[in-house]
Amino acid sequence: MELLRCYILWFLILSGIIEVGFSDQDGFLSLSCGGTMSYVDSSNISWIPDGAYINAGNMTTVDFYLEGSSSSRLPVRFFPDSLVSKCYRLPIKNVSSLVLVRTQFVYKNYDGLYKPPAFSVSLGRAMTTTVNLANTDPWTEEFTWPVDKDTLSLCFHSTPGGGYPVISSLEIRPLPQGAYSSGLADFPSKLLRKSYRINSGYIDGSLRYPIDQYDRIWDADKDFSPYHVSIGFDIQNNFNLSNLKETPPIAILQTARVLARWADLTYNLPIDGLGDYYVVLYFAGILPVSPSFDVLINGEVVQSNYTVNRWDANSLFFTMRGINSLNITLKSISYYPLINALEVYEILEIPSETSSTTVSALQVIQQSTGLDLGWQDDPCSPKSWEHIGCEGNLVTSLVLSSLKMRSISPTFGDLLDLKILDLSNTSLAGEIQYLGSLQNLEKLNLSFNQLTSFGSELEDLMNLQVLDLQNNSLLGIVPDSLGELKGLHLLNLENNKLQGPLPQSLNRESLEVRASGNLCLSFSTLSCNDISGMIETPQVTILAPSKHKGHKHIAVVLGAIGGTALAFALISVSVLLLTRRKKSEGSSKPSVGMDIRNWNAAKVFSYKEIKAATNNFKEAVGRGSFGSVYFGKLPDGKSVAVKVRFDKTQLGAESFINEVTLLSQIRHQSLVSFEGFCHESKQQILVYEYLPGGSLSDNLYGAKSKRITLSWVRRLKIAVDAAKGLDYLHNGSDPRIIHRDVKSSNILLDSEMNAKVSDFGLSKQMTRAETHVTTAVKGTAGYLDPEYYSTRQLTEKSDVYSFGVVLLELICGREPLTHSGSPDSYNLVLWAKPYLQAGAFEIVDESIKGTFDGESMRRAALIASRSVERDALRRPNIAQVLAELKEAYSIQLSYLASGGFIN
Ligand SMILES: *[C@@H]1O[C@H](CO)[C@@H](O)[C@H](O)[C@H]1NC(C)=O
Ligand SMILES: *[C@@H]1O[C@H](CO)[C@@H](O)[C@H](O)[C@H]1NC(C)=O
Ligand SMILES: *[C@@H]1O[C@H](CO)[C@@H](O)[C@H](O)[C@H]1NC(C)=O
Ligand SMILES: *[C@@H]1O[C@H](CO)[C@@H](O)[C@H](O)[C@H]1NC(C)=O
Ligand SMILES: *[C@@H]1O[C@H](CO)[C@@H](O)[C@H](O)[C@H]1NC(C)=O
Ligand SMILES: *[C@@H]1O[C@H](CO)[C@@H](O)[C@H](O)[C@H]1NC(C)=O
Ligand SMILES: *[C@@H]1O[C@H](CO)[C@@H](O)[C@H](O)[C@H]1NC(C)=O
Ligand SMILES: *[C@@H]1O[C@H](CO)[C@@H](O)[C@H](O)[C@H]1NC(C)=O
Repeated sequence: MELLRCYILWFLILSGIIEVGFSDQDGFLSLSCGGTMSYVDSSNISWIPDGAYINAGNMTTVDFYLEGSSSSRLPVRFFPDSLVSKCYRLPIKNVSSLVLVRTQFVYKNYDGLYKPPAFSVSLGRAMTTTVNLANTDPWTEEFTWPVDKDTLSLCFHSTPGGGYPVISSLEIRPLPQGAYSSGLADFPSKLLRKSYRINSGYIDGSLRYPIDQYDRIWDADKDFSPYHVSIGFDIQNNFNLSNLKETPPIAILQTARVLARWADLTYNLPIDGLGDYYVVLYFAGILPVSPSFDVLINGEVVQSNYTVNRWDANSLFFTMRGINSLNITLKSISYYPLINALEVYEILEIPSETSSTTVSALQVIQQSTGLDLGWQDDPCSPKSWEHIGCEGNLVTSLVLSSLKMRSISPTFGDLLDLKILDLSNTSLAGEIQYLGSLQNLEKLNLSFNQLTSFGSELEDLMNLQVLDLQNNSLLGIVPDSLGELKGLHLLNLENNKLQGPLPQSLNRESLEVRASGNLCLSFSTLSCNDISGMIETPQVTILAPSKHKGHKHIAVVLGAIGGTALAFALISVSVLLLTRRKKSEGSSKPSVGMDIRNWNAAKVFSYKEIKAATNNFKEAVGRGSFGSVYFGKLPDGKSVAVKVRFDKTQLGAESFINEVTLLSQIRHQSLVSFEGFCHESKQQILVYEYLPGGSLSDNLYGAKSKRITLSWVRRLKIAVDAAKGLDYLHNGSDPRIIHRDVKSSNILLDSEMNAKVSDFGLSKQMTRAETHVTTAVKGTAGYLDPEYYSTRQLTEKSDVYSFGVVLLELICGREPLTHSGSPDSYNLVLWAKPYLQAGAFEIVDESIKGTFDGESMRRAALIASRSVERDALRRPNIAQVLAELKEAYSIQLSYLASGGFIN
C-alpha cells in the first residue's frame, strides 16, 4: 500500500515530458465534408474540403462547435437523392497495409426539421454499421481496414424513411505494420470497428495526434476506481517496447488503473449487440513490483496467473464470439494488478471479392448498354449492383430487361455462376450464341427481341428449367436438340415465325410448350403449307349437337367410289344421312340413300363449264394455302369466286364429298353462299358467290386507293353481320359448325357493304363429341385461341376468340401481329386488351377518332376484350357478342342521328 500511494498522486503533464518525434502527417487524409476551405486545427492536422473525393450530395453548415475546429459553423454534406448509394472514393497510397478510417456524422438539426436521419455505411465490400443520429449526435465511427486496393469506397445507403445521410468529417490514418493481427487467425478476412479505446488511469480528456503518431483517439478512463497511477519517468528509455506491434504512445502507457487487493478491477463495457469482439489489453511494468493476476472476460478466465514484470511492456489479445455484453476483470494473485490501456473492437467480416473475370465481363456488358448503370467496385458487396443478384460472392442473376444490348456479347459466357439471365426486350438480334458455357443457368429469358436463330448452344444448358423466347423473329423449325434439356419445364415460343411440327422430344408431361402466334407450329405431324402466312386449311369442324338439344346427328358415309374417278358424273356416291333417331338408339344407321347426280342443293359443274366461266382462269382474285381463287361469270350473269385446290391440298374423295354435302346445307345471308362444285380431272373446285367489296382486311390494310372508308358505324355493321354468320354456324345450323379460321381476310363485303363470313367450307374429318373435339391445332397466327392451342380441345369459344381479334382490328385499325414498332405492341391482343379494359381509347384507329359515341365504343371494346380472354370459360358465346354489338351499333346510329359526327 505504501508503495502504491507513492505513485498515485504523481501526476505530470505529459506533453512536457514526452518528446514528440512524429510530426509529419504522412499518409493522413483529413476531409472536411461539405467544407469549402482548408485549415489546420489545434492538433496541427491539415483539413481539406472533400469535393475531390465525391460528386454527390449537398453542402451546408451546422451550428455546432467541433473540438479542434476553428469555426462554430461546421460544414456537413448530406445526400438527398436517397435511392442510389453515394460513395466517397478515397485514395490509399500504400497497398497491403492497414489503415484507420474515422468518420463523424453530425445532424444537429441543420435542416430545421428535427428529424435526425438513420442510414447504413459501408466500407469497401463490407456493410459496417447503421448510424442513427436520433440516438447520438454527433456519431463517430472508427474502423481498421486491411488495404487491398488503391482506392477505398465509403458509401452511404439510405434506409426507407430514414432521412438523408449526412457526414461532417472523414479521416484516413495509416496504422503500424502488423498491428491488430495477433490472436485473429480465426478471422481471416475482417475489419475491426472500434467500440472502446481507453487510456486507463487517465481522466483528463482524450489524447490523439501528435501524442499518438497514428492519430488514434484514446479516450479518458471513466474513473479512478479503485486507484490509478501514473509515473513521471521516461519509460521510453527504460522499457523494452518492441513487443507492442500496435505501438501505443508512451504517454498512454504511463498511466494505469490499479487493483487493490480487496477489490476486483472490472471494466463493464456495454456493446452494440450480439457479435464477435476483439479485446486488446496493454500492460506496462510501471510499478516497482511485478504483480500476477488472472484475466477474466465475462466471468471466464481467459488468462491465468499473468505477470507484469517491471520495465516490461506487453499486450494480451482475446477474441470473443457471439457475445452481447462485455466485462473484463483482473483478479489479483500477487501484488497490485494494473492495466494501462485497452481496446475493444467488433469483428466484421469482409465478404470475399467477386472473381475478376466476372467483374470485367460485367464491365464490358455495362459498356455495351451504352449506359452508366452505376456499376462500381464489387458486384456483390456491400450491396449487389442494380440488375444483379448474388449468392455470396457469386453473380447468379443478371436482369437487363428493357435495356438496349443489340447483340449477345461473348462476355455473357464468362458469367459462369449465372442461374438467371434475363435479356428480354434488349433489342437482341441474330443468333442465340455464346451462352453454352452457362452450365448453372436455370432460367433464360430472351423474349421480346429480334432474334432469328436458335443457334446451337442452347442444348448445352443442362440445368435449364425455363426458356422464354416469345416475341422474337425466330424462323424455321424448332431444333430437336432442345429435347435434351431434361429439366426444362417451360418453353415459350409464342409469337415467332416458326413453323413445322414441334419435335416429339419436347412432347412430354413435365414440359409446358407455348407455341401460339407462329406461322404453323404444333406437335401434329401435318405439313405446313406456308404460302400466305396461313396455316393449312381445312378449317371447318362439325360438332355433334349436344344431347340435350335433341338435334339430329349427321354423318356422311361414303358408298362405292369408282376406282380412279374419271369423271365426277361417273362416280356413284351414296350419301347416307342419318335421320332423326330416337334418343335411346345409340349406333348410327344409314336410312336414306342419295345419288350425287340428283343433288339439288348445289349445282354440279363440269370442268368445261368452269373453264368457260373463268375465261380459262384468267383473273385470279385471291390466293391462299389451299390454292387460287378466280373470278368467274356464270351463263346467267351471276359473278362467282372459283376456288381451285392445289394437288397437295386436295382431300380424299370421301372428305370432299363430305364437305360439299355440308356446304350445300348451309345457307345464311351472312355467310358467303355456296354455288356449286366440280370434281373432275383430279380437280377439286368450289364455286361461291362473288363479293365485289373485297375482304375486311383488304379494306383495313390494303392499298389506299382500293379501300372504302370504314367509319365506326360501318365497322359495327360489319361486326354485327359477321357475328350473325358465326351465330348461325354455332347455333343455327345443324350440325353445329366451328369455323376455325375466323379472321378479317375471311370476312367479305358485298356491293352494299353487307359482310359475310367465308371459307367455312373446307371440311375436315368429323369427330363426335358432346362439348368439344380434340384436334390438331389449326388456325392463323394472331387469331389462334391460346387455350385451344394448349389443350387442343376445340369449342365454339375458339371462334369467339378469333372473332374478338377481328373486333380489335376494327377498333384499332391494325393487324393482329406486326413485327415493327416496339416489341410490346407486336401482338394486338396483348397490346390492346389492357387499354380497352381500362377504357383507354387512345389506341383507337386514328381514322375514326372523334367520330364515335363513347358508350358505343365502350361496349364494343369491352365485348372484344372479353372475347379474347385466355380462359375460354370467361369468354362470352357468340350470341352474347352479337347482342352487345347490336347495342353498340344502335347507340352509334342514334348518336349520328342526333347530330353526331357523320361520315
Ligand atoms: C505542424 O505540422 C507541420 C507539418 O505538417 C510541421 O512543420 C509543424 O512544425 C507542426 N507544428 C507544430 C506546432 O507541431
Ligand atoms: C440539393 O442540391 C440540388 C442542386 O444543387 C438542389 O436542386 C436541391 O434542392 C438540393 N436539395 C436539398 C434537399 O437541399
Ligand atoms: C508501405 O507499407 C509497408 C508495409 O506494409 C512499409 O514497409 C512501407 O514503408 C510503406 N511505404 C510507405 C511509402 O509508407
Ligand atoms: C526486447 O524484447 C525482445 C523480445 O522480448 C528481445 O528480442 C529484445 O532483445 C529486447 N530488447 C532489448 C533492448 O532488451
Ligand atoms: C461479468 O460478466 C459475467 C458473465 O456475463 C457475469 O457473471 C458477472 O457478474 C459480470 N461481472 C460484473 C462485475 O458485472
Ligand atoms: C504464478 O506464476 C509464477 C511464476 O510466473 C509462480 O511463481 C507462481 O507460483 C504462480 N502462482 C500460481 C498461483 O500459480
Ligand atoms: C421494352 O422496353 C421499352 C423501353 O425500352 C418499354 O417501354 C417496353 O414497355 C418494354 N416492353 C416489354 C414487353 O417489356
Ligand atoms: C420474360 O420477360 C418478359 C418481359 O420482360 C416477361 O413478360 C416474361 O414474363 C418473362 N418470362 C418469364 C418466364 O419470366
